[in-house]
Amino acid sequence: MKILGIECSCDECAVSVVEDGRSILSSVISTQIEEHKPFDGVVPEIAARLHTEKIISVYREAMQQSASSAQNISAIAVTAKPGLIGSLLVGLSFAKGLSFAWQKPLIGIDHILAHLYAPQLETDICYPHIGLLVSGGHTLLAIVHDYDQIEVLGTTVDDAVGEAFDKVAKYYNLGYPGGKIVDDLASDGDEQAFRFPSCRIEKEPYNVSYSGLKTAVIHQKKQFLYKNAENTLPNLCASFQKAAIDMLLDRVKKAVKQTGLQTVVAAGGVAANSYLRRALSAQKSWQVFYPSLALCTDNAAMIAGIGYQYLKDNKISGWDLNAESRVTRFKRRA
Ligand code: KG4
Ligand code: ZN
Repeated sequence: MKILGIECSCDECAVSVVEDGRSILSSVISTQIEEHKPFDGVVPEIAARLHTEKIISVYREAMQQSASSAQNISAIAVTAKPGLIGSLLVGLSFAKGLSFAWQKPLIGIDHILAHLYAPQLETDICYPHIGLLVSGGHTLLAIVHDYDQIEVLGTTVDDAVGEAFDKVAKYYNLGYPGGKIVDDLASDGDEQAFRFPSCRIEKEPYNVSYSGLKTAVIHQKKQFLYKNAENTLPNLCASFQKAAIDMLLDRVKKAVKQTGLQTVVAAGGVAANSYLRRALSAQKSWQVFYPSLALCTDNAAMIAGIGYQYLKDNKISGWDLNAESRVTRFKRRA
């Protein structure tokens, strides 16, 4: 069964055709990075307008590359939440139009669940497992019971981890988006040069916070320079990266210990980070899976892939499917 997936939740306009939840027949992504670069961040109004301009050509290319036609598409899956409301509405309206015209089922997808599903496109990973979703908009640690069922252990109380990377890069004029740039600079730096603070939230041991770290890196960096270490940009990036990712590692270790689950899935844009991948892979107490780099950041293959699972279970959306900007449904542990 071929599913058409549509992803327009933020600044990537993406359409993909995936067969049987696994085989990616096409995955076309039109990124808006260049248009948002002058602002060092995504401008919601510009994002929505660019989705409107691009979606038809991206859709046509995805259909052509996969040699698909309306007749052999079984359903249309689309990101319905969370994300920028104007952007989501473009994808959702387009998906509803196709679904109505083709008389094919419409399936609303949660972007967070889709990110966590992404590595399943490449490897079969058993449920339940520990899921770590780290991106520009989200930082979430959860027990993933099934493709559509997660139990949140912890989140960030302020910035998402990718946002912290982006803000540090913005302050030091490194470019946008900052994650990859900081990661590259860090490869020439000494991660022990600065000893930046971590954070511990007593009542919520799985939660993380990045505002203190961000302030330390931006406004108080000299305070954290270790002995005679050099105050260079690569040293700063390497030390910041270590502090930001070690916080997550600590939470993953706790989760593995407490739940007894020994499989960890890391997904989202920050799962492309080289230090995070090295550190998670170095652990002997769990087996870790990540999507390939192209499937870490936003794409529509993960939407079409998880859409197939919904279709198989006959979990179809109605015409009242709406866009939601925030995460509302996930339950925290008592
Ligand atoms: O998943 P994604 O494409 O979009 C969201 O759903 O947010 O993630 C984008 C985020 C950005 O904050 C970007 O700076 C970060 O992922 N990112 C990285 C790396 N590559 C992308 N952060 C750290 N290291 C990287 N190598
Ligand atoms: Zn994302």
